[in-house]
Amino acid sequence: MQESLEEIRLSALSGLAACADEKGLDEWKVEFLGRKAGRLSAIMRSVGSLPPAERPKLGAAANVAKDELEAAYEQREATLKRRRLDETIERGHIDVTLPGRRPQIGRLHPVTQTLRDLLAALTDLGFQVAEGPEVETDYYNFEMLRIPRDHPARDMWDTLYLDPENSGYRPLLLRTHTSPNQIRVMERQQPPIRLAIPGKCYRKEATDATHEWQLTQIEGLAIDENITLADLKGTLGELARRMFGAERKIMLRYAYFPFVEPGVEMAVDCFACGGSGCRVCKETGWIEILGAGMVHPEVLAGVGYDPERYTGFAWGLGVERVALLRNNIEDIRLFYANDLRFLEQF
Ligand code: FA5
Repeated sequence: MQESLEEIRLSALSGLAACADEKGLDEWKVEFLGRKAGRLSAIMRSVGSLPPAERPKLGAAANVAKDELEAAYEQREATLKRRRLDETIERGHIDVTLPGRRPQIGRLHPVTQTLRDLLAALTDLGFQVAEGPEVETDYYNFEMLRIPRDHPARDMWDTLYLDPENSGYRPLLLRTHTSPNQIRVMERQQPPIRLAIPGKCYRKEATDATHEWQLTQIEGLAIDENITLADLKGTLGELARRMFGAERKIMLRYAYFPFVEPGVEMAVDCFACGGSGCRVCKETGWIEILGAGMVHPEVLAGVGYDPERYTGFAWGLGVERVALLRNNIEDIRLFYANDLRFLEQF
């Protein structure tokens, strides 16, 4: 019996040294010190069955072994706990001498920057800012602007219709330009009017360096007594001067839009080639930035204004085009490609 007590003691001590975690410690405790099935308890229970002379010796030896194993257990447990703590600290270690990571700071999209600059210039020139819906009816986007169904001018705007199967009397569409706001504004207020109306527009375009499916326009509208084409020219010339500087060349040329008479287009000399012709300006030397004109008398009459008394001008300006020109960007599609390497430059 003495021999087997020594065997248990040695095997317990080597088993304890091999314990690497709490689970191992628990299993060890059950095996050696457990009250019911522990190997040492079995020895202690067997003391009573020995001849009386042998009992004290074995009982004392078993108690000594028990004390020794309990102490060894506590020591092992403390060692493992300390090791675990050290590992945790090591893992979460912060080297305060390493250089810090810069936080990524957001910025305004270049089109938003240009939009804000344009609106600031227009407010300075006496225009108030208003907004209108992106989902429009055919009625406002086309009909009230003298573009009835089957009018060939509808081809000027490749329209994205919503629910084309079930379009009914006033089909819904994504507005192709901000011009429907001319009607919406004039329907609800009387002259004098000086408004700038920014907003996103959508067209089913064959995209290229200057055409995208999504574009931003600013509609301008000024209605009053005695407004003439010279006022339109003066306003747009001043706006261009503020956006591009005095040295940039501006051209106004005749253009057709059913809702104005006469109609014009304004172009700025191409930044990429300086006007000699290139891929960006499609070899013309000019980049068109807006369509404009004197509001057609029939449009004025359509909203209940007296065209004998009131006249006015309107324009629709492409904000992305202005952003291209100001920043020397050669392809409009870069704006909405979401490439941070491009966007972070502004
Ligand atoms: C119009 O949209 C008219 N509503 C403008 C207007 C308003 C005329 C008031 C008369 C009176 P247009 O389709 O030409 O016209 O577009 C006007 C401007 O929007 C263009 O000069 C251009 O700067 C910009 N633009 C047009 N289509 C695109 C496109 N696909 N991508 C980017 N910009 C565009």
